[in-house]
Amino acid sequence: MALVCRVSADPASRSLRCQPVERRALGRDEVRVLVMFTSVNPIDVKRAAGYGRRVLSLLGAGGEELVLGNDFAGVVTEVGGDVPHVAVGDRVWGLVPTGPQGAHRSEVCVASRWVRPLPAGFPMASVAVLPYTFTTLWRSMKAVGLHEGQAAGCHVLVNGGGGALGQLAIQLLTRWGASVTAVCGAASSARCVSLGAKQVIDRHATRLSSLPSNCDATLNFGAWADEADVIGRLRPTALGHATTVHPLLGETDARGWLVGGLACWRAWRAMRARLSEVAPRARYAWTVFKPDEAAMDALQACLLSQPLVLEVAHRASFAHAESAFAHVASGQPTRAVLTAEI
Ligand SMILES: NC(=O)c1ccc[n+]([C@@H]2O[C@H](COP(=O)([O-])OP(=O)(O)OC[C@H]3O[C@@H](n4cnc5c(N)ncnc54)[C@H](OP(=O)(O)O)[C@@H]3O)[C@@H](O)[C@H]2O)c1
Repeated sequence: MALVCRVSADPASRSLRCQPVERRALGRDEVRVLVMFTSVNPIDVKRAAGYGRRVLSLLGAGGEELVLGNDFAGVVTEVGGDVPHVAVGDRVWGLVPTGPQGAHRSEVCVASRWVRPLPAGFPMASVAVLPYTFTTLWRSMKAVGLHEGQAAGCHVLVNGGGGALGQLAIQLLTRWGASVTAVCGAASSARCVSLGAKQVIDRHATRLSSLPSNCDATLNFGAWADEADVIGRLRPTALGHATTVHPLLGETDARGWLVGGLACWRAWRAMRARLSEVAPRARYAWTVFKPDEAAMDALQACLLSQPLVLEVAHRASFAHAESAFAHVASGQPTRAVLTAEI
């Protein structure tokens, strides 16, 4: 069974429906997993409305009807001959690379490198919301040179600190000894503090440009419109800045490969120039989600030591998937999961 999304910019024409799918043979390096929980992320809501179509079509994920979703938790039902680290019956979590398959289905077949054993005692739903967001976070931090061995004592500003990426960033960076300033709406303030943020800035009450330029790294998970002001918070010796809210997919959708591509290049160049003014040696990155084995190993290490928290506030069966998509579309700081049962 798969949850098939009919893609449309017009909400009235958009639909989600369950559809039986044929079982395919398993490759020697693959595992078949009975999906117990699969999460809905903002990207799924956006893709349901047509976002990213042009670029994602290069990955086989740009059609009129899509199976969305990238992360899951479930039980292994079959393993290929070359798979050493999981066995039938194991509880696992994992990632489905963006492509024709999607994770919103009752059964996924994925390369074994995108699956990890679920540590004992973990609620599957709590883990199913982590892989996609954690991997994106990991890639953005890696791009600016933020890692466990070096983050202690760093001051990091996280724009969009109240969202899922921001919440994981606050937890991870705080554990590594960094001092985090979270920029978020007032409603997210208490949550950011409880997760470890040292300072919280209400984005509706304070202009980003009025904050001091004293950060070693900045992460923009909030809005592209804030990009220049977030970069402006870096100190001259800063490591760098990464953003997940860049215009790469949106501009290409709206203006095509050539004009959209040119607009992206100009936007990238303008922000790179801004960065060079404030922090000449800093790195600049537009982060794009992609499965990453090092990120999965890091998430597994977190689960085994001190789990990361991302609240699951909504659960729905595939038959009621619209409610899960509506939950995520409403911009709440919590996540939704789907179960394959009907
Ligand atoms: N490029 C990629 O591959 C990739 C991968 C993952 C995510 N993303 C994108 O990264 C962003 C963050 O992801 P997420 O999972 O953390 O999303 P999320 O859970 O929906 O959180 C986003 C948060 O940003 C804040 N926000 C909303 N509008 C804002 C604005 N105009 N200015 C500043 N902050 C604003 C909101 O929190 P407050 O109201 O509390 O401020 C919101 O909770 C999303 O846009 C997502 O689509 C991109």
